[in-house]
Amino acid sequence: MTAQPGLKLVKRDASGVDLAFRADVLAGLAEAQKAIPARWFYDDAGSALFEDITQLPEYYPTRAETEILQTRAAEIAGLIGPRRAVVEFGSGSSVKTPLLLSAIEPSAYVPLDIAGDFLRASSAALAAKFPGLPVLPVEADFMRRVELPADVAHLPKLGFFPGSTIGNMIARTATDLLRSMKDTLGDGALLLIGLDLVKDEEVLLGAYDDASGVTAQFNLNLLARINRELGGDVPIASFAHEARWNDPFARIEMHLVARESVSFTVSGQRFSMGAGESIHTENSHKFTKRSAQLLLAAGGWEPIARWTDEARQFSLVLAESGATRSAP
Ligand code: AVI
Repeated sequence: MTAQPGLKLVKRDASGVDLAFRADVLAGLAEAQKAIPARWFYDDAGSALFEDITQLPEYYPTRAETEILQTRAAEIAGLIGPRRAVVEFGSGSSVKTPLLLSAIEPSAYVPLDIAGDFLRASSAALAAKFPGLPVLPVEADFMRRVELPADVAHLPKLGFFPGSTIGNMIARTATDLLRSMKDTLGDGALLLIGLDLVKDEEVLLGAYDDASGVTAQFNLNLLARINRELGGDVPIASFAHEARWNDPFARIEMHLVARESVSFTVSGQRFSMGAGESIHTENSHKFTKRSAQLLLAAGGWEPIARWTDEARQFSLVLAESGATRSAP
């Protein structure tokens, strides 16, 4: 998962403040329903807390997706075939990426991430595990088309986007990303993408509000980041973590709810909230077979195979880059 953006692609003011972070926070706090994009969770502390989340008993997605990659490796490899360049959207996980790479005999591995430091560290670890495999990290914002290294220009590509990170985007953004992936990967590309499934509300709420409070810490860490990086005085103890199921949108929402009325300052601007008012900090959309197919089709991808874990909690879909056409 993407951590704090690295130095190269991040614009900062003279005092080192990340301008995009400040703009998103100030604009989001000025809305009627206050909202801050989830990408700002991932400073160093937030990235470490997310790693802890993936180990929680209640947080099934990482275990379920790993199970699929372990138990279906031969089938997945058979459909993908050898000698592709694997292009991973994000820095790669220390568990899932090696499982895929060991299964399919790729010719190169190209991780894309905006967080340069994180990208270099995970690429070095991966290269050590797969001696002989060219590992070619590219520091880039993969929400737009990325120019891949010339060394892989002649190779067919497999895009890899695990973890149901696509579920953290609203439909329009997710569709834009899928189209950018198509542009980045080129003709004849395949995409292996993880999509979390709609399931019992209690299981979903437990996964996003665990008994040991790690997800609460992850959510509240955003306020600590605002205070530290944007000179804020948000009273963190006056906020509570809340996970909600939004049924019409089939998504878990995370909110930071004011326990009492509060006033605070961020970057010199004053904000007030009444008791019970919230800051919406994350959407995590859940999919059915059909809604996943619809989203992929809108982004220009046609599913050719789909696997779930034994408990049918999570899906991994292999899709091919479809022809772009606007009529039946
Ligand atoms: C990174 N992303 C797919 C996670 C999710 O499940 O939506 C982020 C997360 N938020 C709370 N727990 C995990």
